[in-house]
Amino acid sequence: MKAIPVSQTRLEMSEVMTPNDANFLGNVFGGRILALLDLVAYATSSRFAGTICVTASFDRVDFHQAVNVGNLVTCIGLITYVGRTSVEVTVEVYAEDVLKRTRQHTNTARVTMVAVDKDGKPTEVPRLICETREDKVRFLEGKLRRELRGVQRQEFEKHAADIRQADESRLDALIEQTSLL
Ligand SMILES: CC(C)(COP(=O)(O)OP(=O)(O)OC[C@H]1O[C@@H](n2cnc3c(N)ncnc32)[C@H](O)[C@@H]1OP(=O)(O)O)[C@@H](O)C(=O)NCCC(=O)NCCS
Repeated sequence: MKAIPVSQTRLEMSEVMTPNDANFLGNVFGGRILALLDLVAYATSSRFAGTICVTASFDRVDFHQAVNVGNLVTCIGLITYVGRTSVEVTVEVYAEDVLKRTRQHTNTARVTMVAVDKDGKPTEVPRLICETREDKVRFLEGKLRRELRGVQRQEFEKHAADIRQADESRLDALIEQTSLL
């Protein structure tokens, strides 16, 4: 099985945000950034796998600050964890004010991509060579994220099943406890 060092998986893509990318406040749409993340995750993972990779899931993406029209947005993708047929791509997003020459880190996103064959069936990906301490930490964090996603999904389903089975008075009581309605 082929093995590729983390350092060879780095991929950088930049794009200027135009007025077409603006939301109703005049900043850039969150969805525009998500689309960029998806493209970078696609290119990073497919180049690594040597076959088409499809998006299986996005981890939570937080928008801590607005990206402005006119900013140069740079996304840097890196393979941080590999399973059998899936890979985790970590994408760092930076927004640069090209006039002031200032650059801010705006997001970190983690996207799970699955390598598929020509029939769309998952297919094995190369092994990832972790050379540096940072590579190793990121790999183990990726593994932990994957395991915790499974645990969280099971926990949610357990509690959601209780909610779905509750009668209406129980639902009212639960809502009452939230003090939101
Ligand atoms: C992603 C996809 C190929 C997985 O197919 P599947 O038959 O469920 O595959 P499997 O259950 O054998 O899982 C294959 C791998 O995908 C991973 N996987 C599957 N669904 C996942 C999810 N929702 N999130 C993260 N990883 C996922 C599995 O953990 C497994 O990883 P591993 O091989 O590294 O252990 C399939 O669900 C698919 O084609 N989805 C649509 C993808 C797409 O079109 N995306 C763009 C949306 S517009």
